[in-house]
Amino acid sequence: MITLFKFPKIRREALLLSLLMLSMVSAVAVQSNERKALLIDHIDIHSKTSIIHLGSIDTFDITEAGKEASKFLLDALNNNNLEAATAASTVYDRIIPKENYGGEYTALQWFAWYLLAPPDKQQQMLSDKYHREFFNFWSENDFANLKEYLERKYKFKEFEDAQTFKGQERLAYLEDFILFNNPRREEWEKTSKMMEVLNLEPGMTIADIGSGPGYFTFKFSEAVGAKGKVLALDTVKTHVDFIKSVAEKYDFNNIEFVHLSNIDSIGIPPNQVDLAYMCSLYHIIYTVNSESVRQSYIASIRDALKPGGRFIVVDNAVVEDKTLPYHGLFIAKELIIAQLERYGFQLETQYQFIPQRYVLVFRKV
Ligand SMILES: C[S@@+](CC[C@H](N)C(=O)[O-])C[C@H]1O[C@@H](n2cnc3c(N)ncnc32)[C@H](O)[C@@H]1O
Repeated sequence: MITLFKFPKIRREALLLSLLMLSMVSAVAVQSNERKALLIDHIDIHSKTSIIHLGSIDTFDITEAGKEASKFLLDALNNNNLEAATAASTVYDRIIPKENYGGEYTALQWFAWYLLAPPDKQQQMLSDKYHREFFNFWSENDFANLKEYLERKYKFKEFEDAQTFKGQERLAYLEDFILFNNPRREEWEKTSKMMEVLNLEPGMTIADIGSGPGYFTFKFSEAVGAKGKVLALDTVKTHVDFIKSVAEKYDFNNIEFVHLSNIDSIGIPPNQVDLAYMCSLYHIIYTVNSESVRQSYIASIRDALKPGGRFIVVDNAVVEDKTLPYHGLFIAKELIIAQLERYGFQLETQYQFIPQRYVLVFRKV
């Protein structure tokens, strides 16, 4: 005779509940083991190239040909010398394919073209409002900022503050500005292809973290429309001020400006943001920040995201020998992926439209 052991009803339910919980716990354990197995735990090294490179933070190498071209451009600006403008453009034609991919040369050549263009063509070059604002910044007061940049950068003139923090900060600011808001950035970066895969929708809230002078901020502002919002965050106040001045001029009412005075938090309250976007900044977060600052900074990004929100990181790739790197700073994407996976993000997809730059799409988990 088989005696079935009978649990009292209450015990039976408790047992069923325990079994259910046990199976859930083991399912979670299996899932998390599976997830662990999927996390990047090694990187294949294919060449002698470093997998992270900071170079000299944000300054380009000065080459002889680069200096020659900028000397011609300065002569063209100072003396209204169109032959010098032609000579500058000719040198840039020669060196752009070989030096400073994604650097300032294309922007400087654009100014040489402007000087050489007839008035109707000049107007056409400034028909895009962002190109016009870029031009206005450099050209006001008889091209004072552009001349100063060329003189500081290529050392055509002695600046008393050149060795001081203030002088270096000024040069870095001008250099950032010419690089990030370059009217020819699309040519090398294929920005429009990047924008297409971001899947932006009207009404979204986007945090543009490390916005610089707003190259992406303005594109985001147009994409999310009046019901959306863009938070432009940067540690450099002059960048944020520039975005503000353009936004006010053209009535962009959906941008909020955040000058970050400390670097351990993006300072946005929890669950506000659909998309946190960071272009060309993570290499700094990865390498320069202390462990504790990085922990809290990334945690603040994760907290600011709504449940299931995306964190998109664009950075500079390690390139094969014979391919020009972006202009110095780069980081193997595997390092970012591995780190962010351990900070509570999951890589969803990735894109690479040019060898020098990748787009990593993470989701908050
Ligand atoms: C290489 S720039 C990229 C600018 C912009 N995202 C673009 O692609 O045009 C990086 C920007 O990050 C800013 N930055 C540096 N550290 C930062 C931090 N901890 N938080 C926010 N912005 C930071 C710099 O001032 C600079 O404007």
